Amino acid sequence: MSTLSTSLPGGTWTLGDLTVTRFGYGAMQLAGPGVMGPPADHDSAVAVLREVADLGITHIDTAGAYGPRVTNLLIREALHPYAESLHIATKVGATRDEHGGWPPARQPEDLRRAVHENLETLGLDVLDLVNLRLGDARGPRPGSLTEPFETLVELQRQGLIRHLGVSNATAEQVAEARTIAPIVCVQNMYNLAYRQDDELIDELAEEGIAYVPFFPLGGFSPLQSSALSTVAARLDATPMSVALAWLLQRSPNILLIPGTSSLTHLRENVGGAGLSLSDEELAELDKIGR
Ligand SMILES: NC(=O)c1ccc[n+]([C@@H]2O[C@H](COP(=O)([O-])OP(=O)(O)OC[C@H]3O[C@@H](n4cnc5c(N)ncnc54)[C@H](OP(=O)(O)O)[C@@H]3O)[C@@H](O)[C@H]2O)c1
Repeated sequence: MSTLSTSLPGGTWTLGDLTVTRFGYGAMQLAGPGVMGPPADHDSAVAVLREVADLGITHIDTAGAYGPRVTNLLIREALHPYAESLHIATKVGATRDEHGGWPPARQPEDLRRAVHENLETLGLDVLDLVNLRLGDARGPRPGSLTEPFETLVELQRQGLIRHLGVSNATAEQVAEARTIAPIVCVQNMYNLAYRQDDELIDELAEEGIAYVPFFPLGGFSPLQSSALSTVAARLDATPMSVALAWLLQRSPNILLIPGTSSLTHLRENVGGAGLSLSDEELAELDKIGR
């Protein structure tokens, strides 16, 4: 098992046998508008990724569908050959259409193609972590994941994938996946104002499985709440810092992957997430999503 010491807020977490910083980075915002095409400023996107690594962040979240292929190729350009400590998580199970939609692509041949495409675009022989993305753009949808998940297990057995996770999943699908093969994480939408998965997070924490909230800052609609602004003003911090610090304090199995295309925001987020929230502040913030 690799060890890693970090001064980043939240310390580290172990995904299977991979130690990562709990403060990670989500690469989706680096693609063009609507997560389609190249970024407006290519050099700045590469600079953000290099700063991610320079800050000591060792967990980057991406997907072949971002761009498509754009964020994977940027990661490769900026950071390949990768440091041994860096772990890249990717997702399969959705593709892109000509309107920028995210139609499911979960047939066995879609998943095999997606895994090989991720290996190629990231320049890797083995993918550290592959999440099976379920549901659709509206969120998780019920239904069995056995066929697509078994396809990924088969690719794992072939040595192409180190660890598996699920994304945009219901609690039932998480449980179903775990009857088929071990998972190291669940990546679902969750933040201070959207707390559908509270119970699931606590259950996963007991099982030593990471919970990776997407849209930790609200995603395409930034978090806005008067209670959040009040607490932030009192602490002389930004609402974004408070939202990230709250997630780190919410549960030890929460890994952050905030997205940004801005060097300034990246540094602000790393600095701000270490904020210590008192019990009183936590209680005030707790009311936002209840
Ligand atoms: N599994 C899934 O289905 C799924 C779905 C969506 C996302 N994801 C993953 O989750 C990651 C995080 O989600 P996300 O990037 O969509 O949403 P997010 O992290 O909640 O928010 C990103 C937005 O916040 C802004 N932002 C970041 N830091 C800021 C700061 N300090 N001050 C002001 N604005 C700030 C960014 O704009 P700037 O660029 O201007 O900083 C961007 O618009 C993605 O990168 C992706 O890897 C997964």
